[in-house]
Amino acid sequence: MNFRTLLADQVDGVGVITLNRPEALNALNSALIDDLKSVLDHFEYAASVGCILITGGSKAFAAGADVKEMAELCYPNTYLENYLGRLDQVAQRRKPIIAAVAGHALGGGFELALMCDFIIAADNARFGLPEVKLGVIPGAGGTQRLARLAGRAKAMEMTLTGRTMDAAEAERCGIVARVVPLEELHSVGLETARRIAAQSRTAVMMIKECIGRVDEGSLAEGLRFERRIFHSVFATPDQKEGMRAFVEKRPAQFR
Ligand code: CAA
Repeated sequence: MNFRTLLADQVDGVGVITLNRPEALNALNSALIDDLKSVLDHFEYAASVGCILITGGSKAFAAGADVKEMAELCYPNTYLENYLGRLDQVAQRRKPIIAAVAGHALGGGFELALMCDFIIAADNARFGLPEVKLGVIPGAGGTQRLARLAGRAKAMEMTLTGRTMDAAEAERCGIVARVVPLEELHSVGLETARRIAAQSRTAVMMIKECIGRVDEGSLAEGLRFERRIFHSVFATPDQKEGMRAFVEKRPAQFR
């Protein structure tokens, strides 16, 4: 399989997806989201795949949705195209998905990791939802999933300040299942996925479905709500200023 923005491989029953836009720290642009959907469709229906591993580079898992692509979007486009809605399909998959995260997992990149069933982090991983610094809000489930995993206080503090946390703090607050040295991330991620792929496929998928039920009902409502608010932020001057300032490499001047 050939993709522009990621590498896809199959190893012993594991579908391995490596985000591969190093020049943009794996920022999630439309092409990457399309490629991710195609490869997940493939692995979801491949009888030989029992578990999926999503990873990035050693400097970045993904540094967010692509700000350069987003900067000039307006509310009608985001609403009509359900901007970022396609990323949600990662969370809808029936086979288990592990995120193996090294380096920056920020904004949409962190939200992508949170859509996976669990995260294994390298000791250099940094997690954050810095959208507030761009004059916008998390738009791919971050407010809902972070609050459910780490609690309301941590979610409020992280999203309102935009600060990042390291892997040890993420493990302490239940965001990350395990922290491993950077050089072991790939082998531990692969070994964990292999172990899952070797179990009963039915039992594995049923367990995933049951645990998913824990917070499904009101999560769906929260996600819809968050998406609507996220789209409407593209009607504000602060979104334009925050994102233009990023592209122009200068501090934002919010009114
Ligand atoms: N979108 C587009 N391009 C990005 C990007 C992003 N999210 N993050 C990094 N890049 C690009 C940079 O613009 C730069 O490109 P150029 O070489 O063409 O200038 C390249 O990747 C390398 O980045 P830096 O030079 O900035 O690398 P650094 O090591 O100095 O800093 C960083 C790393 C702290 C992660 C910094 O890149 C950064 O702050 N990135 C933006 C993080 C962010 O705000 N993410 C949230 C996006 S909004 C979002 O995700 C909305 C949502 O809820 C879905």
